[in-house]
Amino acid sequence: MCGIVGYFGKRPARDFLLEGLKRLEYRGYDSAGMAVLQNHKSKLAVTKSVGKVVNLENKLKQNFNGFLGIAHTRWATHGKPSEKNAHPHTDCGGNVAVVHNGIIENYRELKEMLKKRGHKFRSETDTEVIAHLLEEEMSVSGGKNISFEEAFVKTLKQLNGTYGVVAISSKNPDMMLAARLSSPLVLGIGLGEIFVASDVSAMVGDVKRVVYLDDKEIAIIKKDGYVVKTLSNRKQEKEEHTLEWDKAAAERGGYPHFMLKEIFEQPKSFADALRGRLLIKEGRARLGGLQAVEKRLRNINRIIIVSCGTSYHSGLVGEYMLEEYAGIPTEVEMASEFRYRKPLLDKKTAVLAISQSGETADTLAAIREAKEKGALTLGIVNVVGSTIARETDAGVYCHAGPEIAVASTKAFTSQLAILALLALYLGRQRELSFVMGERIARELNRIPEYMEKILARAKDIKKLAKKYAKQKHYMYLGRKYNFPNALEGALKIKEIAYVPAQGYPTGEMKHGPIALIDQSVMSVIIALKDSVYEKNLSGIEEILARGGKVLAVATEGDSVIAKKATDIIFIPKTLEMLSSLLAIIPLQLFAYFVAVERGCDIDKPKNLAKSVTVE
Ligand code: F6R
Repeated sequence: MCGIVGYFGKRPARDFLLEGLKRLEYRGYDSAGMAVLQNHKSKLAVTKSVGKVVNLENKLKQNFNGFLGIAHTRWATHGKPSEKNAHPHTDCGGNVAVVHNGIIENYRELKEMLKKRGHKFRSETDTEVIAHLLEEEMSVSGGKNISFEEAFVKTLKQLNGTYGVVAISSKNPDMMLAARLSSPLVLGIGLGEIFVASDVSAMVGDVKRVVYLDDKEIAIIKKDGYVVKTLSNRKQEKEEHTLEWDKAAAERGGYPHFMLKEIFEQPKSFADALRGRLLIKEGRARLGGLQAVEKRLRNINRIIIVSCGTSYHSGLVGEYMLEEYAGIPTEVEMASEFRYRKPLLDKKTAVLAISQSGETADTLAAIREAKEKGALTLGIVNVVGSTIARETDAGVYCHAGPEIAVASTKAFTSQLAILALLALYLGRQRELSFVMGERIARELNRIPEYMEKILARAKDIKKLAKKYAKQKHYMYLGRKYNFPNALEGALKIKEIAYVPAQGYPTGEMKHGPIALIDQSVMSVIIALKDSVYEKNLSGIEEILARGGKVLAVATEGDSVIAKKATDIIFIPKTLEMLSSLLAIIPLQLFAYFVAVERGCDIDKPKNLAKSVTVE
């Protein structure tokens, strides 16, 4: 989705703005633009371009030499990708520039009203009305001169919809204004400089302290400080969070793509998720983020997990873990559906949101709905200080570091790490024995070593991907703990290699999908030596009997499957409840290498955005 960056400080704004836009490129965009208040001239210089940020960089002229500026990468919603529709948008006089994420629902009415008052519009966007409204408020407002800040508040009050918006004005060279309503904005606090962005990854390495704006708050940003107020002019005391991520974490570090880097980071990100939380000798988990609600957790008798996409798939694995080891009835629901149902919740229900970004609009809405109904809300979130992390009653961070590639990989395994810890934590609060608790804890601790073993076989998976690069249709299958992996494996190959793929529980094949099987379909089946091994084996027989091909993910040493499958990838044996953590890695690598073979833009797949902050 669109990306916002802003800078006010002692360095040339253009440098940070370009760097920030490049760091947000992974979110997906079709055009970019920048506005900088020129030194000594009190005039705004604005440049826009279609396509990549490098096109904008090549167009920027010498006059982009001020210390105050805003920039944006746009993902077209209102009006096609073009220079005139790219942000920043300016008013008629060219004195005000704004960048905006979100949707202004009443922009047509506002535009008509402004046109009648003589404003000339240059774009088809909803955002442009904000610039003209600011101009209108500053110049008209009953004949009185009102401040930029007052005009900003008056403007925001006329908007219906959602916004993360940042504005600058050549007539007010000493400030930058930012506001949020359902579209994230974060301030980065440096020494004598302030950054603003829609995503912290834009400022990783530049700042250590960040402040997240909440809905209906505005930030008045000066070179050396900031004030946050509500729209009703009440000053807010904001908590400053420490940004732990360093610059290296947000760079490719020698890998051809972020996705590959992040797949290979999994042994480390998994270990980071466990750090300080696994008490092996006591056979239990310590989750500091849940301490405040520990007593309430002892009394819950139902969990509903709400999430989207890959995070939904980790939730499905969590359902098996929580029911089997914590003994708590658990349901998993796509957040986009949950919010439109009439969920039956009570004080003994915990609603658990899983989200890498912590900003997914549907998941956030589901959590708000659950809160409204009196349920305990919990979060498993990667981005520290993000909206879901702040709005849930309690939660556990994944500590996976920044996930830059659009296709989620390391966040998935970190979410599974936390879900396993949660099952251990809640299980030991209930009936899970010390012996079983200790076994789980010991095995969790070994997972990074097993992951390394699988990653060392990446070359073999690359060969398989070469062999099947032209394959037109995939069926991903698995049962129990590895049914969600079938969904996730299919999602990965769809989103980055654009190959049609379906994920099914193996047992569901005979109820319909088997009709598709013939020589043209490749079935990727996770058939490990676990409680459903024989069932998966039957699934393989059924596919082979109909002329289908089978790529099996199997347990090391399984000579039976090795004889049957067309191709095979072995993974180490672990506890069944943790097997999804290992079985997903070959599927991630397979999708990645197929996408490489097919020449796809892996880190920025078409039509996708990293963080989906609109419904
Ligand atoms: C797929 C992917 C998406 C996200 C989904 C939820 O690779 O990345 O399906 O998992 O948009 O995002 P978060 O976890 O940020 O809520």
